[in-house]
Amino acid sequence: MQELTDDLIDRFADGGSADLIHDFAFPLPIYAICDLLGVPREDQDDFRDWAGMMIRHGGGPRGGVARSVKKMRGYLAELIHRKREALPAVPAPGEDLISGLIRASDHGEHLTENEAAAMAFILLFAGFETTVNLIGNGTYALLTHPGQRERLQRALAAGERGLLETGVEELLRYDGPVELATWRYATEPVTIGGQRVAAGDPVLVVLAAADRDPERFADPDVLDLGRRDNQHLGYGHGIHYCLGAPLARLEGQTALATLLTRLPDLRLAAEPAELRWRGGLIMRGLRTLPVEFTPPRK
Ligand code: HEM
Repeated sequence: MQELTDDLIDRFADGGSADLIHDFAFPLPIYAICDLLGVPREDQDDFRDWAGMMIRHGGGPRGGVARSVKKMRGYLAELIHRKREALPAVPAPGEDLISGLIRASDHGEHLTENEAAAMAFILLFAGFETTVNLIGNGTYALLTHPGQRERLQRALAAGERGLLETGVEELLRYDGPVELATWRYATEPVTIGGQRVAAGDPVLVVLAAADRDPERFADPDVLDLGRRDNQHLGYGHGIHYCLGAPLARLEGQTALATLLTRLPDLRLAAEPAELRWRGGLIMRGLRTLPVEFTPPRK
């Protein structure tokens, strides 16, 4: 993760400016998940393009999203087929996730190639735009809260990671990437918070509102990177709790710490009011995040 992060920063560091969404937050999760799945490096830029088309939410050329999904699914199916053919009898240490999925069995039954492709696709899809927005929203929150950002930079300079860890959780609570959980349906009548929900009724939980609940969080609208009592719902809750949370934490922590350490005077190159956020109800994230900084000395 550190290598991927440094590589991406190397690509724009000399220029003194960047769009942190396009140049950093967007490619990092896609390369990370591709490495984890075992997509060869030379094919990863195709993934980057397909994923880019997918998160434009149909804003690109007509039919582009469907075509990109199809290409990604097709590529994964073929990769799984190739890997299955060449799979060694004994797993090697550090074996990639696709090979793990091919090996996985439940009561002696293996996943079909189609099931393994669907699983790889969902991992990519669930772990991509979410993490882009953790890095994007998180960096934006730090740049607009100079006191908190300096606090974190001081801790990082002193080699203390504790504030980075609580800080990324706080950024998830304060302005998390996922605003709504997926649909739930009541299996029996229930009353929650004074609201009657009949059996079969759909329930949409607004995670972002729960994470600013004054009955749950002290000063919920204040960004406090050192917040301790912070059981936020940024990754959901219960049986569908985010499978990728440890990976996302690692990505978020590595990305933010490396940015603030390598580009210590990072600053916004636009007024906050000029920044545009992606539409849609489920995800919250910036379209662009223009920044400036002093290029690091070599
Ligand atoms: C900051 C980044 C991320 C955030 C904020 C996030 C958020 C969430 C949330 C809120 C849910 C629960 C949805 C619900 O209950 O309706 C969820 C589920 C899930 N996430 Fe994440 N996620 C992130 C990164 C990832 C990554 C990196 C992966 C995979 C590599 C991933 C894979 C999944 C999967 C597979 C589920 C479904 C789990 C299930 O239904 O049992 N997520 N995520």
